Amino acid sequence: MPDLSDVVGGIADAMAREQHRGDVATYIPELAKVDPGQFGIAVATLDDGVHVAGDAEVPFSIQSVSKVFTLTLALGAVGDALWRRVGREPSGNAFNSIVQLEYEQGVPRNPFINAGALVVTDVVLAGHQPREAIGSILRFIRWLADDESIAIDETVARSEAGTAYRNMALAAYMKSFGNLAHPVEMTLGVYVHQCAIAMTCRQLATAGRFLADGGGRLSTGHRVVSPERARRINALMLTCGHYDGSGDFAFRVGLPGKSGVGGGILAIVPGRASVAVWSPGLNQHGNSLLGTLALERLAKAMGWSVFGP
Ligand code: DON
Repeated sequence: MPDLSDVVGGIADAMAREQHRGDVATYIPELAKVDPGQFGIAVATLDDGVHVAGDAEVPFSIQSVSKVFTLTLALGAVGDALWRRVGREPSGNAFNSIVQLEYEQGVPRNPFINAGALVVTDVVLAGHQPREAIGSILRFIRWLADDESIAIDETVARSEAGTAYRNMALAAYMKSFGNLAHPVEMTLGVYVHQCAIAMTCRQLATAGRFLADGGGRLSTGHRVVSPERARRINALMLTCGHYDGSGDFAFRVGLPGKSGVGGGILAIVPGRASVAVWSPGLNQHGNSLLGTLALERLAKAMGWSVFGP
């Protein structure tokens, strides 16, 4: 078995040399300002080690990676009742597509496309003021990452809120079917703030470790979710975590993963490690180009694909 630190360092060196880095997201104006030359990687293993390389300590906008944490919170709040309001099937459409919602009567395909994530946020919001719901999401992530310094980038939140016309349309459309309990602006307000949480690769890999560790942090005694729930969240990440690029990600990387348009990806190696990669340039599906390439190389070098070495 190759040395993990050597593999992680080698991947960061190779990614630094890559010329073809994809395009940064521009539909959220603040994200368009991020330097595409950056790449970070962190691998958090179950023995509490974290192997980092490249720009692993630089905070970036986690965007849709936040959907893994809000899904965990929503399942904790309402359990399987969530599945009455959101499906568990890959969408085959872009993350902000509206067409499927009409066919499926306002019930989004899965919790990771934007429509599904808005329903999940609506569930997390229940019984709270928006400010309290945002606080509970942030506190949960800080607790998972064991790092109180994690914060929301208010500039990114404002930038998204000012241009969130598609998400507003998705939320309003679901509201017309009765699948949104709160006013559109309220659910959307919480959603843009969860997406604007800034984290480093080290923090993100640490926060995701419970999904690699059977739902708990066995070294600390913390149980976050049951093993069954962790397994199911991982299954959704594998089948839906990269939108209409999920099949290709499974083919190339072979791990549950969740991407964000900030260029971050959280990938889970069940029973072994939680991996965060970040590079702001995206492929045609809105997923990090170099992040995916790096995970492909890591999974291959370590024999970590869930489908076999
Ligand atoms: O709702 C949006 O469009 C963004 N806040 C998040 C989208 C996203 O990260 C899609 N992932 N690749």
